[in-house]
Amino acid sequence: MPTAVSLFSGCGGSDAGIFNAGFEVLMANDVLAYAQAVYEHNHPETDYRLGDVSKIQHFPEAELLVGCYPCQGFSQGGVRDAGRKINTLYLEFARALNQIKPKAFIVENVSGMVRKNYAHLLQDQVKVFTDAGYNVSFQVLNASDFGVAQERKRIFIVGIREDFGIEYDFPQPTHGVLGGQPKTTIRDAIDGMPEWPEGEFYDLGFHWYYLSRNRRNEWGDQSKTIVANPRHMPLHPMSPPLEKLDQDVWRFQHDGPARRFSYREAAKLQGFGYLAFPEHKYGSLNMRYKVVGNAVPPPLFEAVARALPNIWN
Ligand SMILES: C[S@@+](CC[C@H](N)C(=O)[O-])C[C@H]1O[C@@H](n2cnc3c(N)ncnc32)[C@H](O)[C@@H]1O
Repeated sequence: MPTAVSLFSGCGGSDAGIFNAGFEVLMANDVLAYAQAVYEHNHPETDYRLGDVSKIQHFPEAELLVGCYPCQGFSQGGVRDAGRKINTLYLEFARALNQIKPKAFIVENVSGMVRKNYAHLLQDQVKVFTDAGYNVSFQVLNASDFGVAQERKRIFIVGIREDFGIEYDFPQPTHGVLGGQPKTTIRDAIDGMPEWPEGEFYDLGFHWYYLSRNRRNEWGDQSKTIVANPRHMPLHPMSPPLEKLDQDVWRFQHDGPARRFSYREAAKLQGFGYLAFPEHKYGSLNMRYKVVGNAVPPPLFEAVARALPNIWN
C-alpha cells in the first residue's frame, strides 16, 4: 500500500478519498480538536497530531503528501484580503514537501484562487512547488461531475516529482453530460433520513442575508454548496420554494415547515459514505457543521488520487 502524509486534515474528507484510493495515511494534522476526534473515531489507525502545523519539525517519509490549507482569504464567504497571513500557510505545506520529497502531492483549495486578485498567490504556490522539484498542474473541478450530490467547484494543484518526467492528467468527469452517468441527486444522497432530526440542524431564523439569494434546490437536483457556517447552510427540499421579490430579496412562497440541512445530511451531500460523530467536549452543533463543511468531498479527492500515474512500486 502506498503511504501518505496529510496536512490540514480536518475531519478527514480528503483522507477518506485517499484511503478509498488505496493509500495508507501515516500522519494527519489539524488545529481543531473536534476534527481530530471525528477523524480518529473513523480512522483510528492514523497518527493524528493536534496542533499548529508550523510546530511540526519532522514529518514521516511518505510517497504522497496531501493538504488543503485554509481558504478564508479566497472564498466568497471569507474575508477577501489577499495579504492575510492565513494565505501563506501553503509555505508550511512547501516546507513539508521539501522535507519529505514524496513522489507526488495533491492540494485542494477554493476556486476563488483563480480570480485575478489572487493570481499572484496561485502563481507563488506553483512556483514554490516547482522550485521544490515537481511538475505542477492545476485545474478547477466540480464535485457533481464525480458523483457527489452537490455543486462544489474547487481548485486542485497536483505535482509529480520531476525525476519521473511525467505531467499529471486530471480525471475526466464520470457523471453528467460529459461523464455519461446521471448526476447524483439530493434524493439519492439523503432519502430515508429522518425528516425532522431534532438537535441536528441549525434552527435559528432566516435573516435578510440568508434570504438575499435562493438557498433551496429540488430533490432531483444537486445541493447548493455545503458551507462551514451553519447559518448559511442550504435549505432542505422539504422546505417551501423561495421566490425572488427584488434584487437580493427572496421569500418563502408559502408557509410550511422549513429547515436547513442537518450536519449529518451535509456529510452525505459531501459524499461521505458513513461518518460517525463522536460525543466530545468540543463537539457542539456549530463545530459539527464546521468540520463537515470544511471537508473535501471524498469521491472527488479519490478521483484526483486515482488519476495519479502508477509510480508507487
Ligand atoms: C479546508 S479545511 C481542510 C479540510 C480537510 N482536508 C477535509 O477534507 O476534511 C482547512 C483546515 O486547516 C486547519 N488549519 C488552519 N490553520 C492551521 C494550522 N496553522 N495548522 C494546522 N491546521 C490548520 C483548519 O482547522 C481546517 O480544518
